[in-house]
Amino acid sequence: MDWSWIALSLIALAYVVRALLNISKNKHKRLPPGPRGIPILGNLHMLGELPHQDLLRLAKKYGPIMYMRFALVPTIVVSSPQAAEQFLKTNDLVFAGRPPHEGSRIVSYDRKGISFTDYGPYWRNMRKLCTLGLLSNLRISSFQPLRREELDLLIKSLKEAALARTAVDLSAKISSLSADMSCRMIFGKKYMDKDIDERGFKAVIQEGMQLAGAPNIGDYIPFVAPLDLQGLARRMKAISKVFDAFFEKIIDDHIHEPKEEGQPKDLIDVMLGYMGSKENEFQIERSNIKALVLDMLAGSMDTSATAIEWALAELLKNPRIMKKVQEELEKVVGMERKVEESDLESLEYLDMVVKETLRLHPVAPLLIPHESLEDCTVNGFHIPQKSRVMVNTYAIGRDPNVWTDAEKFLPERFIGSSIDLRGRDFQLIPFGSGRRGCPGMQLGLTVVRLVLAQLVHCFDWELPNGMMPSELDMTEEFGLTVPRAKHILAVPTYRLPN
Ligand code: HEM
Repeated sequence: MDWSWIALSLIALAYVVRALLNISKNKHKRLPPGPRGIPILGNLHMLGELPHQDLLRLAKKYGPIMYMRFALVPTIVVSSPQAAEQFLKTNDLVFAGRPPHEGSRIVSYDRKGISFTDYGPYWRNMRKLCTLGLLSNLRISSFQPLRREELDLLIKSLKEAALARTAVDLSAKISSLSADMSCRMIFGKKYMDKDIDERGFKAVIQEGMQLAGAPNIGDYIPFVAPLDLQGLARRMKAISKVFDAFFEKIIDDHIHEPKEEGQPKDLIDVMLGYMGSKENEFQIERSNIKALVLDMLAGSMDTSATAIEWALAELLKNPRIMKKVQEELEKVVGMERKVEESDLESLEYLDMVVKETLRLHPVAPLLIPHESLEDCTVNGFHIPQKSRVMVNTYAIGRDPNVWTDAEKFLPERFIGSSIDLRGRDFQLIPFGSGRRGCPGMQLGLTVVRLVLAQLVHCFDWELPNGMMPSELDMTEEFGLTVPRAKHILAVPTYRLPN
């Protein structure tokens, strides 16, 4: 007799009975409205290749607080600024949990990072460590010279392409730049693509993000997780092996070649300083360092690059706006020198372009899923404990009650408006808000603004082969982040005197 099958069947039965009991218990309470589901899958079959867009369409019918059932998991989809405020501010603590996530269990050393870990003292402690090691204002400015150096290298290579009048793959260039900047801040040096795997560094991170964002049946029907019906766990395990070997090597390098006095410390140095120390609430071990480093890499590389790419795509599509950004740069910076980080504060129109980009193209359109830690009532609706909460910032950025001509890219809409994107104004929350909001916002915004300003200040950009701006393909590719499906190709012309 195969005991594993018997055990699995018993677990399955227990889960189903518990879920059915929960569903019938909730039946008498006033749940938010939502579409009818089908047996077993509930509403899971309603998610296509771009779930944020499917959820926006459904919310138009069922409202800004919508109840769905993804197999056994009650799911609440939040699609308006007022509703988001209820979940992320008024009841922030109740919704500060993260649902179980098979992918992060595999890749993130059993959820030892920050993004997918349970709300509680461990999470708080790790957030504090990453702020001290990487994300405080002091640390961010200490990395300013290396951002400058990396950006100069990119400008140099683009100048060569400009001389040769060749089209460059801007998406690939930006992704490399972002990876190099992140590596230097986190590991203290750049690694070549081949140092991680023959597929290359960015490809491995991007695959990880895609797998992390892909709806996994095992997250919704936990007892089938061991069967790995979609093969996601198998691919995650393969990726996790690659990361692990890479991080082990980096930690060894840091231990064997410690930094000399006065040399700037990277995140690994800072974390190693805590290893074995009694100062912390938790023992910091190698697995904690590796999980944190992975979170920081995933958090910094893909997000900033995706935002810069979307901004450039919108500028290429809207030459009038591109010109206006260049005029502002000419006025504030002039044509005799390059943009410095200290100029960013004075670039108001650029700031509006970044806001407008993140309104229409939020990098993580469904944030990272939240989970209710207890039963709660929101707007008179019962939200059961352990519901998965998805805040659809893509829908919020297009809410016609808040935004006129919502589908249009119009940075001018922010003139004279006090709407900010840091989590205070719920019309625009590309970094989330509240306890679980993005801790890397300041770093992310600095990189996005700086790179965008530099690329547009130094070069005029033209689409290749006579392509019209209106022909630029704006298709998205879904994952935890939503980058462009197609790379941007463009021909640069250098516009500064030297
Ligand atoms: C343009 C750049 C960025 C964008 C748009 C962005 C966006 C986001 C969003 C939407 C969330 C989820 C918030 C929620 O679930 O409520 C998040 C969380 C997070 N981000 Fe960022 N992010 C960016 C840059 C960064 C950077 C540079 C880092 C670190 C190096 C970072 C690290 C994290 C971490 C660790 C979390 C999880 C927080 C938690 O669960 O407590 N992000 N980010």
